[in-house]
Amino acid sequence: MPVPAHQATTRHLGAAYPFVAERDLGGGGVLVGRDLFGGAFVYDPFVLYGQGVLSNPNMVVFGQIGRGKSAFVKSYLWRQSVFGRRAWVVDPKGEYGAVARAWGTEPMALRPGGSLRLNPLDAVHGAEQDADGAARSRAELLVSLAGTSLERPLSPCERTAVELAVGDVSQRTAVPTLPMVVEALLEPASSSAAAVRTDAATLAADGRQVALELRRLVAGDLRGMFDGPTSAALDLDGPIVVLDLSAVYHSAALGVLMTCAAAWMRAALRRDGGGGPVLLVVDEAWAILSNLGVARWLQSSWKLSRAWGVSNVAVLHRVSDLSAAGAAGSEQVGLSQGLLADSETRVLYAQPPEESAAAASLLGLSETEQELLVRLGRGVALWRVGGRSFLVQHRLSPYERALVDTDARMAAGR
Ligand SMILES: Nc1ncnc2c1ncn2[C@@H]1O[C@H](COP(=O)(O)OP(=O)(O)O)[C@@H](O)[C@H]1O
Ligand SMILES: [Mg+2]
Repeated sequence: MPVPAHQATTRHLGAAYPFVAERDLGGGGVLVGRDLFGGAFVYDPFVLYGQGVLSNPNMVVFGQIGRGKSAFVKSYLWRQSVFGRRAWVVDPKGEYGAVARAWGTEPMALRPGGSLRLNPLDAVHGAEQDADGAARSRAELLVSLAGTSLERPLSPCERTAVELAVGDVSQRTAVPTLPMVVEALLEPASSSAAAVRTDAATLAADGRQVALELRRLVAGDLRGMFDGPTSAALDLDGPIVVLDLSAVYHSAALGVLMTCAAAWMRAALRRDGGGGPVLLVVDEAWAILSNLGVARWLQSSWKLSRAWGVSNVAVLHRVSDLSAAGAAGSEQVGLSQGLLADSETRVLYAQPPEESAAAASLLGLSETEQELLVRLGRGVALWRVGGRSFLVQHRLSPYERALVDTDARMAAGR
């Protein structure tokens, strides 16, 4: 362990390191590991939020590659499962398979040409009481999907065209698919046109750009992923849902998938009336924050965490990742920085020396903490919990080691 060995009484330690030599957080929760200034370190965002120690249950984890960020998150989820907590994991590297299997489920790995299919219009399934409500939710989802892909908000004419097309196909079939909606946009029913006092040709012209954009999802290189009924193998109601993005995170499918994921989550939470707290993890968040659809989705999840009973966890490399999500002043950067502001728990693994000053000023670290930050060894993190600091050595059980071992996977892939 690179933190220098030290002999001192606890009283002296308290004076020398007032920032870390604090009493524990209290309140119970899962064991994370050893507080290097004495005792066990136990943490639960929901308990601390309930007690008013934290004003939100969200967490951001920073650290260089290989320092143990994902290992911490995986074992943390596993330990939280003992308390019946559920989890959603957005997994850009495809490394949560063992964790999902430990919970008795398979990760959802969508890939072009793969066997899994996901119908975006199925995402609201079961959350709406009536057909009208379902059609409205579907139209909303398609409006946000098309807006993300076109990288602009839809015009009122375009929105209307989408609503009418979805309404039309919803009358004909219980669960519409994207190709049906694209068809209804390209060739609208005369009854749809009459409803907005226009003719079918004008309505078709209004919806054409959206139709062509959505058509990319059913015809282009993403064909086979979003254009039919959802595969029975996709279990969105299990105790853990792992979205393996490893095959799609450089493609246009990413924004689609994340927009769908947002709708599923909302539907799942509404279906069981907020049935217990959920942990939502976005590992390697830096890799996907530049996607506007993803950034918007994350922001809504972070903002709504209290209302939904969701504790969001984002994993990043450096604090500068937040400003690197897009051009200066872009919506992505604003959204990314908002995540930090709405995360009162910050877990800091080692940072490169050139990042430590920026990290210290952004996260309000003391000088001693800033010095420590560049010297932390694997598995050791500085935890900032609602303004208090702890130095924590994360401990893994032998069983958990097998769940988290990314070194072995990398060695095997060499
Ligand atoms: N607390 C720990 N104790 C022992 N080994 C660890 C610990 N944390 C991580 N490791 C090992 O380090 C490797 C890299 O960790 P990982 O969590 O994948 O890094 P990253 O920070 O890049 O997410 C893993 O294979 C894991 O087995
Ligand atoms: Mg990792």
